[in-house]
Amino acid sequence: MRITVIGTGYVGTVHAACMADLGHEVLGIDIDEERIASLSAGRAPLHEAGLGEVLARTVSSGRLRFSTSLAEGAAFARTHFVCVGTPQRPDGQAADLRFVDAVIDGLAPHLRPGSLVVGKSTVPVGTAARLARRLAVSTRDCEVAWNPEFLREGSAVQDTMHPERIVVGVVSERADNVLREVYRPLLRAGVPWFSTDPATAELVKVAANSFLATKVSFINAMSEVCEAAGADATVLARAIGADSRIGDRFLEPGLGFGGSCFPKDIRAFAARAEELGAGASVVFLHEVDRINTRQRRRTVDLSRRLLGGSLAGRRVGVLGAAFKPGSDDVRDSPALAVASALQEGGAAVRVHDPEALDNARAAHPALAYTLDVPKACEDADLVLHLTRWPEYGRIDPAGLAAVVHEPLLLDARGGLDEPSWRAAGWSVHALGRPDRRTAVSARGGAS
Ligand code: UDX
Repeated sequence: MRITVIGTGYVGTVHAACMADLGHEVLGIDIDEERIASLSAGRAPLHEAGLGEVLARTVSSGRLRFSTSLAEGAAFARTHFVCVGTPQRPDGQAADLRFVDAVIDGLAPHLRPGSLVVGKSTVPVGTAARLARRLAVSTRDCEVAWNPEFLREGSAVQDTMHPERIVVGVVSERADNVLREVYRPLLRAGVPWFSTDPATAELVKVAANSFLATKVSFINAMSEVCEAAGADATVLARAIGADSRIGDRFLEPGLGFGGSCFPKDIRAFAARAEELGAGASVVFLHEVDRINTRQRRRTVDLSRRLLGGSLAGRRVGVLGAAFKPGSDDVRDSPALAVASALQEGGAAVRVHDPEALDNARAAHPALAYTLDVPKACEDADLVLHLTRWPEYGRIDPAGLAAVVHEPLLLDARGGLDEPSWRAAGWSVHALGRPDRRTAVSARGGAS
């Protein structure tokens, strides 16, 4: 089957490569000529497990090609996936739909009769219906459907080839059949198929992200209470997570969520609900957002207190820049937000990350960076663990203790083995663990 994938960012590149790998003939389209040139040469523009291989394989097979022309795309296929970004509007909380609208307007005059435009971007509910009206002005017999993606950065290829479900929002059986044809190999493999109306499909995506973000903020709120009560949030998380109705995933107390989706999606959802007169129903999402940003402040405040009340002139080694492990993405990275705040407070901060340094440098040029963990921590008065990369779990605490000025660790992500760090002479502190209160009190800065 022939399809186009419009927008070759995270979602689009992975979708285009994976659809070609399923056997389709795919034309990827983007206005960024440099990106299209690099993709045409089979080079992945982002760090994503397995993507390089799938891209190289499908480009060299000829099943995946790229272009900058929407007109060429419209002539090439009758099924078009729209995967362009929907960032937060610069003037508010709502989603900025100008890229989606530009694709529809660019495509409309060229579409062949009977074409299906399938949105994958995360959008405010009602967008598919609005785009269908916009399309109808210049096109006959074309439909809009919505097919949200649920891929996670770091496992995007795996999530696309082995999804936990496929959700499609359609207005006709014809559209449902086209999408079943696109995903036939996955349906044969038993992936659950949810076919519904476009509004429900649009909402499934934002509801799923809202639920997950709420889960993270819930455990972080519990972590704040645990600190106040001298209790241990990591044990609490495991114990409540053992209840199968709750489940232990997305329940790690720590620095909270970041990235290109959760923060903007919950804000856009709250803004859209407000427009619909249902704002009261999701008012809790504002609190989810506030709890999340508070974790960054808490980490900065605790660092300052651990350093005796002032950051000025102190050296801080930071482990992690990416918004989460397995990704080189630093968009709304909690780690870099904390590192920058410490630097602005007067500390000399050196950041390590195994994958995200180029992006980190571009986003926060004032920070110092290194690819070497001991260098990041050389002469440090405090070491911060801010992204849970697996290699940080393999650090030799005794070896690192030998290079720092003070063996003082704040594990803001959990996950480092506290007893072995303590055994190597480190004073270890973590968000939501009781020792922090006593340790901080002992230094005269109790919370
Ligand atoms: C998310 C959704 O999971 C995905 O379905 C959607 O399509 C896009 O948004 P992603 O942004 O790649 O994917 O990251 P995810 O793995 O979901 O993590 C989101 C954030 O939550 C990360 O910053 C992560 O570090 C944080 N997180 C996750 C926690 O702080 N605690 C947890 O327990 C779990």
